[in-house]
Order: sequence, then C-alpha cells, then structure tokens
Amino acid sequence: MAGRLEGKVAIITGAAQGQGAHEARAFIAEGAKVMLTDVKDGVLDLARELGEAARGMKHDVSDEDQWNAVVAETLAAFGKVDILVNNAGIFAPGAVTETTKASYVAHFNVNQLGTFLGMKAVIPAMKANGGGSIINICSGAGQRGYPDMISYLSTKWAVRGMTKGTARELASFNIRVNSVHPGIIDTPMIGGTAGDAKLMKGIIASVPLGRIGTTEDVVEPVIYLASDASSYVTGAEMTMDGGTGL
Ligand SMILES: NC(=O)c1ccc[n+]([C@@H]2O[C@H](COP(=O)([O-])OP(=O)(O)OC[C@H]3O[C@@H](n4cnc5c(N)ncnc54)[C@H](O)[C@@H]3O)[C@@H](O)[C@H]2O)c1
Repeated sequence: MAGRLEGKVAIITGAAQGQGAHEARAFIAEGAKVMLTDVKDGVLDLARELGEAARGMKHDVSDEDQWNAVVAETLAAFGKVDILVNNAGIFAPGAVTETTKASYVAHFNVNQLGTFLGMKAVIPAMKANGGGSIINICSGAGQRGYPDMISYLSTKWAVRGMTKGTARELASFNIRVNSVHPGIIDTPMIGGTAGDAKLMKGIIASVPLGRIGTTEDVVEPVIYLASDASSYVTGAEMTMDGGTGL
C-alpha cells in the first residue's frame, strides 16, 4: 500500500542513519516530502540521494535557533509542516553511582530538551495548517525501570510524560502527539552490542518473539501515526518490542 502520506510534509530528526533514515525513505515512498536533519554530515548526502522530495539540514536538536531555522527552511521548501518525528537520540549505559553529570546532561540535552524544542518549534506552523501529527520516539526504557542506564531512562520517561501532557494541550488545535516505544532495534545505536555474540544471545533470550527488532518493525507504526488513518489517536503509546515488556 503506497500513498498513505501523499501531500504531507514531514520533519525527521536524527535522519542520517538508523531508524530516522529508514523513516525518511519510507515516508517519501508513501508520497511525503521530508526535511531530514542530523548533526552528522551524512544527512546531506542522504537527502541528495532521495531527490526532489527531500531536503537535508545539519541540525543540533538541543539548539532552539537551529530549530527555528529548520522550520523556516521547511516552510520555504515545501510550504507547510504536517508531521514532526522527534527521532534524534543518544544512548550510553551507566548505573546511578557511575554516571557523570556530564553524561546525564548530554542525554537531557538531546533526548529530552531536543524533543521539547522540536514540539515548540513546529506548533505555530501546525496551527496555521489546521492540525498536525507529532511523533516522539521514546523507548521501552520510558515504560519500565531498567538498571544501568539512568541518563537514558530518565530522558525517555520524560518524553513519555511530555507526550501525554502536550497531547491534551494541543488536541483542540487538531494536533496529535503520540509516543513510539521500540525495544532493542538493530541500528548503529546498539552497534557495539551486535558484535558481542554472548551479550546478544542474552538479549535475544529476553525477547518473547525470539529476535531483536529491525527498523522495518518500527517504520510501519510511525507511518500509521503520521497518516490520517490515526486521526482519532492522540496521547497513545505504540510499543514494538517483541513482547519484552510483558
Ligand atoms: N536502537 C534501539 O535499540 C532503540 C531502542 C529504543 C529506542 N530507540 C530510540 O530510537 C531513536 C533512533 O535511534 P537509532 O536506533 O536509529 O539510533 P542511531 O544512533 O542509529 O541514530 C540516532 C541519530 O540521532 C543523531 N543525533 C544524535 N545527537 C543529535 C543531536 N544533538 N541533534 C540531531 N541529531 C542527533 C545521530 O547522529 C544519529 O544519526 C532514538 O531516539 C533512540 O533513543 C532506539
């Protein structure tokens, strides 16, 4: 089924690789125009490769001025903003007593502050457009308590919470806000782990469906939340974790 995002304009952060890159490709295949952003230069190459329906920008999601520039560029290129996928993120493991303030603040800046600034930046354009869909990429680590990842876990619980509050705040403007909660997904974020056969065996053993996820497992729910098929869905949590959270 193609054309589910025909005529829509999306901003996807963290789109140089992993889930964000896959979402950008899939959104364009579904008929959307996409502004891809990332701190990495590779986002510009990918946007060029994707052609006329894509634009790319270097963008640090923790910088408010850069967010305003991304929205302005998107409006200049494509005329409106229908969809924001707040996907950029960083992850480093660490127990409470071993985590430095610098690591904690770094996670806050990208995962939590970046998500807040993104929502704030697109709301005026979405209001002017009569509505929109904001998709905050959260995590299973925003639904349960996991040890040894205090920085990441804190930010993802915050993202889950701000999704629900903002969904209530924006419902009367027809702006929907939902969160997506992947389990372990095979992307560069877990690249170090994939090479460790023993660790991977342990991780897979903890997943009822018996495998780690792929970016394809995440992209379908994201397309659904971005499309009009989910027009009555806001403040929801979409979980794709192979049953890990059961
Ligand atoms: N891979 C997993 O197992 C997993 C599980 C649950 C949730 N997630 C979440 O999914 C999202 C996508 O992660 P991924 O798995 O594709 O990881 P990834 O590391 O492959 O991609 C993350 C992207 O975000 C970009 N980024 C980092 N800091 C940024 C900043 N300040 N501004 C803009 N871009 C920045 C990176 O350059 C990278 O391209 C993240 O929010 C992550 O927390 C991942």
